[in-house]
Amino acid sequence: MYSDKVMDHFENPRNVGEIENASGIGTVGNAKCGDIMRIYLDIDDDGVIKDCKFKTFGCGAAVATSSMATELVKGKSIEEAMKVTNKAVMEALDGLPPVKVHCSLLAEEAIHAALWDYAQKNGIEISGLQKPKSDIHEGEEDGEEY
Ligand code: FES
Repeated sequence: MYSDKVMDHFENPRNVGEIENASGIGTVGNAKCGDIMRIYLDIDDDGVIKDCKFKTFGCGAAVATSSMATELVKGKSIEEAMKVTNKAVMEALDGLPPVKVHCSLLAEEAIHAALWDYAQKNGIEISGLQKPKSDIHEGEEDGEEY
C-alpha cells in the first residue's frame, strides 16, 4: 500500500523537533481526522531556509509527508519553498494512496502557515502566499474528499 520511501520517512522521520526562536512557525490541523502538524522555519537574512523542523501528531502518512516536506524546503529560498506543494511532496515519496492525499495537503499548508508567520513578523509580502485559513484547517467541509 505504501511506497518504500513513505515507509522509510515514517520509520525514520527527518528533522523532528522544534527550533528555538524560529523565524516562522505554522500549525495546521485537519478537523476530520484530528491530525495536527507544526512546522518551524529558520530563515536567514538572505531569505534562505537554513533549517526546518516539524512535530506531527497524526497518522503515518502525515509523519512521512512532514518529514519529506522539511527535507524539500531545507536550503531553499522562500520562492523555491513556495513550490513545495503537496504534489511535489507526494512525488518525492513515490506517491500516496488516494485516501491519504489530504495528509500531504497538511504538509503544504503547514509550510505556508510558517512562511506566513515569518512574513507577518518581518512585515514583508511573499508572492502567491495566502493567509492560512485558520490554525485548525476548515477547508474540508461540504463533504469534499481528497
Ligand atoms: Fe489525517 Fe493523515 S489521516 S493527516
